[in-house]
Amino acid sequence: MTFTAHGKLIISGEHAAVYGQPALCSGISVGVSVGIGESGELDNFLKNIQDVFSKQTGVAIGTYHRFVIDSLLPVGSGLGSSAAVAYACFQALADMYDINLNSEEYVHLVDESEKYMHGNPSGIDTYAVVHGGLFSFRRTLTSPEIKPIITSLRLQALLIQSGKPKETTKDMIAVVAQNIEKTPSLKQNIENIGVISTTITENFSRNTFDYALIKQNQKLLMQLGVSSPEADTIVHLVEKEGGVAKITGAGGNTGGSGMILTFHEDEAKLVELQKQFSEHSYIITFPME
Ligand code: MEV
Repeated sequence: MTFTAHGKLIISGEHAAVYGQPALCSGISVGVSVGIGESGELDNFLKNIQDVFSKQTGVAIGTYHRFVIDSLLPVGSGLGSSAAVAYACFQALADMYDINLNSEEYVHLVDESEKYMHGNPSGIDTYAVVHGGLFSFRRTLTSPEIKPIITSLRLQALLIQSGKPKETTKDMIAVVAQNIEKTPSLKQNIENIGVISTTITENFSRNTFDYALIKQNQKLLMQLGVSSPEADTIVHLVEKEGGVAKITGAGGNTGGSGMILTFHEDEAKLVELQKQFSEHSYIITFPME
């Protein structure tokens, strides 16, 4: 038996979400499946998942279980792979130990795993992998404010792999914090990204999409220091072809920045762009059906 979870796509608001600004996110149909076996050698991420499960549910696990993970989500590329793997592993453990967990309890478990991996996550990835759908998210001092978005808009986007970042999400959250400390005016970028997320969200509810906002968002992220030369080259190439593109997720600043979220008003142009990047890119439709 296998347990599945899907990934996520941040349309706008990564990094700003950590500072309590609104963000816009969608579940995507690409995901992971996980099977559970008797015992095996595990890395710290998977060991921690079992420790969190034991602690939160009171189930004693004698030896660590082996997980067989089959993932179509590229690791560390901004599509929520760590949260999705954690959610599928928690479902597998719950089944093995005959524990019934509701979605709120899963959110709590996945959040604990994400904190172990990312230090100070906003919780957006966790919510996206457990609940899916298209939603706006704002971190508060208590529980996040989450609003599902109703839209008849169906957009195609091209995800272009700019390379697996050398940095982790935790590193990139720290890079932004350091850059803001060095250059306090960058706080304005965080607020401006929040305004962009709110506008894109309102537009979605009115079934419209303003492509220029994606371009502005990328510029603000670049100034925050989360985009790499590799990613910038792809963004420029897309813009030359009349499209818009931005990093999605934590990014990376010294090698790849993970997936580049690319839009074009003429969706046929997306297919042409995809040919240039062939196996490193794929087209998705969202909100997910
Ligand atoms: C990671 O998918 C998005 C970040 O904003 C971190 C977070 O919100 O937890 C970079």
